[in-house]
Amino acid sequence: MTPRLWIAENTERLLQRLQDFLRFPSISAHPTHRSDLQRTAEWLRGFLSRMGFEVELLGDPPTVYAHYAGPEGAPTLLFYGHYDVQPPDPLELWVSPPFEPQIRDGAIYARGACDDKGQVFAHLGAWEYFIETQGQLPLSLHVLIEGEEETGSETLYSLLKEGREKWKSDAVIVSDTAFFAEDIPTLTVGLRGLLYAEIRVRGPQRDLHSGSLGGIVENPALALAYILTALKGRDGRVRIPGFYQGIQAPDAQERQLWRSLPANEEYYRKLTGSPSLAGEVGFTPLERVSIRPTLDVNGMKSGYTGIGAKTIIPAEASAKVSMRLVPGQDPESIWAAFRAYVQAISPAGVEIEIERLHEAAPAFETPTNSPFYKIAEEAVETAFGRRPIPLREGGSIPILHTLREVAGGCPVILMGFGLPTDAVHSPNEHFRLDQLWKGMEAAIEWYRRAAAVNK
Ligand code: BES
Ligand code: ZN
Repeated sequence: MTPRLWIAENTERLLQRLQDFLRFPSISAHPTHRSDLQRTAEWLRGFLSRMGFEVELLGDPPTVYAHYAGPEGAPTLLFYGHYDVQPPDPLELWVSPPFEPQIRDGAIYARGACDDKGQVFAHLGAWEYFIETQGQLPLSLHVLIEGEEETGSETLYSLLKEGREKWKSDAVIVSDTAFFAEDIPTLTVGLRGLLYAEIRVRGPQRDLHSGSLGGIVENPALALAYILTALKGRDGRVRIPGFYQGIQAPDAQERQLWRSLPANEEYYRKLTGSPSLAGEVGFTPLERVSIRPTLDVNGMKSGYTGIGAKTIIPAEASAKVSMRLVPGQDPESIWAAFRAYVQAISPAGVEIEIERLHEAAPAFETPTNSPFYKIAEEAVETAFGRRPIPLREGGSIPILHTLREVAGGCPVILMGFGLPTDAVHSPNEHFRLDQLWKGMEAAIEWYRRAAAVNK
């Protein structure tokens, strides 16, 4: 039976199961959801065991590790995905509740629908296709589905560092990225790296009356504002000394391809809903989100934010700051430069503490000349009717470096099926059903071809 026909005949059953998967509130950022992470992992274990995989839950929150021993001599692949999701807030902006999946307008709405449960599900379906129609998978498979991607993959990092030999593979396959657009299928060939910091500013021992004592102490909220505004200029250039050191000039061939994309200002204004665009001068919006690094404030906290006025000088202020890195930038030297710079620009009268959140990751690139990449082009073309283009993505999957290393330096294929409009990390996250079903078909087509790749 063809993959397309099998998917069409099983649509209802598959959708029910995807909804079960999406109902778990597997939010890795909140300690109160630990048991939900555990339950999600157990649900995955149930499915994979029924498919004939050897399954183990490793660590806490568990990484689901499963192994399928395929035919003698067949290639070994490593599949990576994550079952944890971002917090759903602000809740009031969701049309339907984030953990009660709803299908409307040709898409399934839920937190994690695209990032990454829906995309993991495309592969679960692909494996089931082989088991049901052929009695077995045509290759050997290591499966790693973690519950901490959105918070830094601590458990998986330590797991991978332990038993290295175990992971040796011919290719790594990941579906946690997106197309450029519905009619422009895309294979991701680069991701930006990530450095994430929390800056805490402490001033007076307690909140002070801003009248009786205002004017004699440094205000931590203002001090934090000075620091943050000094990190990046109005020209969009990051001011940390040495930040841009080592960055390579864009490749002429890539630039040529980018010019053919409808990635103009208007496109990004619509996508973001921002009144106008901002960013580093001298680069196009597409360049700014792919080959240029950037720095952003992800959140700030200080003082009184409730209804009405309260007259205080807050005792402290904090901000979460992330930097997206591109090839050539070294996370460790940038971290050192960032710390030194923040200390140097801090006003007198406050104490500064800088903490690193997440494992730092340099940018990630994957070559387009491996046979496993070629078959990804064929698989996506078969399912979506158009040859995919290679494109860099601005987001990050920090664990990929370590995965590639423990797998023996093999090609990493980033065959994601999301769309830029899926609202990942935002309210009303969704995954288009067309992308889901064609993505599942592409996954099947890829595994089928991968089984025949000469190692
Ligand atoms: N799936 C995303 C990465 C991504 C986002 C790929 C958009 C393609 C398009 C992944 O789940 C993610 O969100 N990663 C985090 C990194 C993590 C350490 C918090 C990110 O990029 O912010
Ligand atoms: Zn994410």
